[in-house]
Amino acid sequence: MDNFIYSIPTIAYFGKGQINILGETIKAHGGSKILLAYGGGSIKKNGIYDAILKQLQKADISYVELSGIQPNPRVESVDEGIRIYQENNCDFILAVGGGSTLDACKAIAAGVKYDGPVTDLFVNESGLSNIAAAAPLATILTMAGTGSEMDMGAVITVGKDHKKKVILHPLVNPRFSILDPEYTFSVPEYHSMAGVADILCHLMEQYFTPDANAKVQDRMNEGVMKVVLEDAPKILANPEDYDARANIMWASSMALAGFQFMLGKPMFPFPLHGMGHELSSMYDMTHGVTLALVTPSWMRHTMQKAPQYLPIFARFARNVFDICEKDNAAASEKGVRQLEAFYNAIKMPANLRDAGVKEEDLETIAEKAVERGNLGILTSIGKEEVLQIMKEAF
Ligand code: NZQ
Ligand code: ZN
Repeated sequence: MDNFIYSIPTIAYFGKGQINILGETIKAHGGSKILLAYGGGSIKKNGIYDAILKQLQKADISYVELSGIQPNPRVESVDEGIRIYQENNCDFILAVGGGSTLDACKAIAAGVKYDGPVTDLFVNESGLSNIAAAAPLATILTMAGTGSEMDMGAVITVGKDHKKKVILHPLVNPRFSILDPEYTFSVPEYHSMAGVADILCHLMEQYFTPDANAKVQDRMNEGVMKVVLEDAPKILANPEDYDARANIMWASSMALAGFQFMLGKPMFPFPLHGMGHELSSMYDMTHGVTLALVTPSWMRHTMQKAPQYLPIFARFARNVFDICEKDNAAASEKGVRQLEAFYNAIKMPANLRDAGVKEEDLETIAEKAVERGNLGILTSIGKEEVLQIMKEAF
């Protein structure tokens, strides 16, 4: 296992009624005038907005609003947020929503302290963003999936070709996040399950790495994956199943908190996200869905091209899906089939064609996916390999 630093600077307030700490905790973090940011308005329909205003009034905290942050959030929303924050002399940001709102607010937090375009703050060759200061940020998560509530990442869509760019820096970790599973009861089935696919993918991206003998990380990871497989169908059956929503919400947070399941392993470029982001760029497709679409093909491709890693795929099949099969290749293939069955059960589209992808776009998607370099870790994934994986997924 390699050396590592483990730090999760975000405090999580988890469970029913945690909204009650909002006002005092903002104040404790130095907030007196806040930028309250949210998405397309779901928080006004389900009562979360009213509950927040009540807390702010009680604590005598004033606010200005940024609304209308879209899924796959655009840099224009970030620029607008920076303007509103600065014009109103805000000193704190409260992001209420899913990953898109949270990510836009992380970019705003860094942008308000930077004298230049926020696009300068996307990750550079060092693998981190060049951020020297950020405004304090808290989040109220309303949908489980991205892990943005506990991590240092933000994904922002820029330009005419809707390229997804990443900000990565510990200074944008939220100061605290309120995680009330009841707030996720109203998430529509499609987005709930896309979130589940996203969580599972974050776990898999950290699992399928060269073996670093990082046993604690891998066994914990397998445990969280099993919980996700077990509890997602319960949400399908009953969207107001508190314990299932709670387990999925905490799995979302744990999957990327401090990138804890890849500690001590070689850093790697999240190949499934590299491919998925290009599908979102091209078709504005929901993030989690893009990942479910490419994962089985990527697994089969890697199993075939790098058979030396079959023991890892077989271990995944045995420990996560309880497959009893001695032969590594056979066990691995059974694992992929079980995963496909799970995606089917949570109603993910069966293939890229069903998801509306055009075959003639695959070449461009492949080209763009590797613009920042090879996506491989277990085996090289350049343009040709992405194209093969995409064709297989089509
Ligand atoms: O905008 P509103 O009206 O709130 O509706 C949203 C949106 O339409 C709705 N929703 C959220 N909570 C709800 C609700 N509807 C009813 N009741 C609620 N309680 O759900 C829709 C999707 O929301 P969005 O925030 O886009 O979803 P998600 O959380 O999946 O975020 C996706 C974004 O996060 C990025 C993705 O690339 C994508 O841009 N990611 C961020 C990461 C990070 N920061 O670490 C890692 C991820 O891998 C991912 O890349
Ligand atoms: Zn993701």
